[in-house]
Amino acid sequence: MPRPWVRLLAVLGITFVLVLIARSYNVAARIQLSWPLAVHPDGADDGAQIPLHSKPPTKGAFKAGQAANTAPGAFTRKIVAVGDLHGDLPNAHKVLRMAGVVTEDWHWSGDVDLFVQTGDIIDRGDDTIKLYDWMEALRAEALTHGGQVVSHLGNHEWMNVIGDWRYVPQTEIKTFNGPSARQQELMTGTIGRRWAQNYSTTSRVPLHPSLGEVNTDYDPSNSSPLSHAAISFVHGGLAPSYPDLTPFPSKINSIAHSLLHKLQHRNPPPAPHPPNPYPGLTHDATTAEHRLYGTDGPLWYRGWAMEPEQKVCAVVDSVLQKTGTRRMIMGHTPDFERIVSRCGGKIVIIDTGISHAYGGVLAALSIEYSLTPLAKASASDAKRWTEREVVTAVYLDHQDVLAVSEREIEGSF
Ligand SMILES: *[C@@H]1O[C@H](CO)[C@@H](O)[C@H](O)[C@H]1NC(C)=O
Repeated sequence: MPRPWVRLLAVLGITFVLVLIARSYNVAARIQLSWPLAVHPDGADDGAQIPLHSKPPTKGAFKAGQAANTAPGAFTRKIVAVGDLHGDLPNAHKVLRMAGVVTEDWHWSGDVDLFVQTGDIIDRGDDTIKLYDWMEALRAEALTHGGQVVSHLGNHEWMNVIGDWRYVPQTEIKTFNGPSARQQELMTGTIGRRWAQNYSTTSRVPLHPSLGEVNTDYDPSNSSPLSHAAISFVHGGLAPSYPDLTPFPSKINSIAHSLLHKLQHRNPPPAPHPPNPYPGLTHDATTAEHRLYGTDGPLWYRGWAMEPEQKVCAVVDSVLQKTGTRRMIMGHTPDFERIVSRCGGKIVIIDTGISHAYGGVLAALSIEYSLTPLAKASASDAKRWTEREVVTAVYLDHQDVLAVSEREIEGSF
């Protein structure tokens, strides 16, 4: 019979050996290889985990605001897109600064033409009010520089107007002075009115001004070589099975506008869940409005991020065709190491878990477009052009070129 101290030594010894083994296999790093995703209230994607990729990023220096092409007569447009920010103002500033959208002192730099944010500014962190205030300040500053801020509602903005507060930290509620003040603010208060007025659920952003303003509907009768020179942005994804893709983007945005109005003017407003029961959509919500908030709707869909490559690449062109776009850019499903490009850059997923709530990598997507007259022709009488689009993932210490498309086209633009 061993004495108690011998048993204790044996236990300590075994523990020590187990710790050594765990360290050598880098168990901690492996445990972080997946993260529970926000769960749709219907629970359809309950327990889903995000796989991570292990491809090492290529190194290189990124100069903020560098031009893709500065030849005389060239039209250039630079778009920067950033994914889920989840209540982290300092990290949001680092990312926008790194990508050249803002200056060190938080102002619009004037170095980019469009800044796109794909939703989920709220939840999991405390800086909700500060982030929405900053976005509105940037929107106004951008306009005075001839730039534009394009903002989207993510599933978390929608959850909060529904009364689904499962991912709201108690410390964040204090910044609003309590739950009822918070609810009022998100319904018909300042933030709620901004959502209704200056945020959309999806957008179509033109690469060239001949396609019109942001959110001009795709016209399927347009036979110009630039008919699809646009990019769609959405929080979750534009699923091939989703019935209301067209006309794009106005169909989705008008359904969303109507649903948002119903939810924000619900009287009395629903008691937050938890601890109260999940309130769901308003009783008068239409089938299309339920579908918008469904698991294959634009706010929750994860198929482009999680389905196998062969499957997504077989159907991506059908959605690009219908929406009059070349690429689809979305957040929602994070990869904590990098921006994910699939099917040669036709699908780009930009949620990298920027908020300290996740501790992912700080990343932004840069799209540099140029249309340059060929030979000596001036821009006004040119008939032949080189069109070029460079899509780059930008990180603090390096950049990754995800896609380069270049071709010659003919026409007057
Ligand atoms: C929406 O943005 C415009 C342009 O910056 C601004 O004038 C307007 O006040 C904003 N709307 C709300 C409700 O804040």
